[in-house]
Amino acid sequence: MAVTSCCNHLIFKVMKQLMFTLMAMILALGVVSASDYKIPLIGSKAPKFSANTTNGKITFPNDFGNSWKILLSHPADFTPVCSSELLELAHLQNEFKKLGVELAVVSTDDIVLHKMWKAHLEELNYKQRGTVHIGFPLIEDPDAKVSRLYGMLHDEESTDRDVRGVFIIDDKNIIRSVNFYPVEVGRNMNEFVRMVEALQLTESKFVYTPANWQKGDDVIVPYLPYSTEELEADPKLADRYYSVGNRMWFEQVDASTAKVDNDEE
Ligand code: BEZ
Repeated sequence: MAVTSCCNHLIFKVMKQLMFTLMAMILALGVVSASDYKIPLIGSKAPKFSANTTNGKITFPNDFGNSWKILLSHPADFTPVCSSELLELAHLQNEFKKLGVELAVVSTDDIVLHKMWKAHLEELNYKQRGTVHIGFPLIEDPDAKVSRLYGMLHDEESTDRDVRGVFIIDDKNIIRSVNFYPVEVGRNMNEFVRMVEALQLTESKFVYTPANWQKGDDVIVPYLPYSTEELEADPKLADRYYSVGNRMWFEQVDASTAKVDNDEE
């Protein structure tokens, strides 16, 4: 009787211990997967990873030195919207190069499929532009390590195919812009050229860009550009800056196409 009771006690202790271990493991797994799905935000350091690509093994973002970088994700190789996106991106490769931007594209497909898809796309005459060489790396991510690191898998949409993510990263490897687009809608690749132009401009001068800004348009100055005394001393300041209402001050980028609007005060 005493032996049975001792045995029961031991079994109960072991079971209790096992339950605790199991619960701790479930909790730890929850924490790990939750942090895996965190989207890196504007202002944070771009998470680092190494992966196989169509251009060989890379360590991102480090291998691109102090270039700007754009990391894009897409749902799947050999699909129509993704194919059109890759061809548009390849069409803009030189624009990005001129801005000092390196591109990298990731999906949860493997390197074999990536290589086949790349070769197939390079044979197409998209929009009658002739063929294009895809110079940027297609990153393989079959275990979704990169996709999780950058929050590109949105579980409600799919647990194994990325949504269309875009991370613009500056020369110091800081994330400057984060965008996600749905699977059904192809991205406007010109928007990322515009975004880099705007970010680089606002970094070189203390100016902001208004809605729908395009390169060459007037910019917003986020301060009062001159005082009454400064204007008296230099009347030409009134030609360089104009206001719309009393809260939006603009700087004219091209004085010959002045949009002066000083009488709305
Ligand atoms: C596409 O890019 O066309 C696509 C991707 C995933 C699912 C359906 C369509």
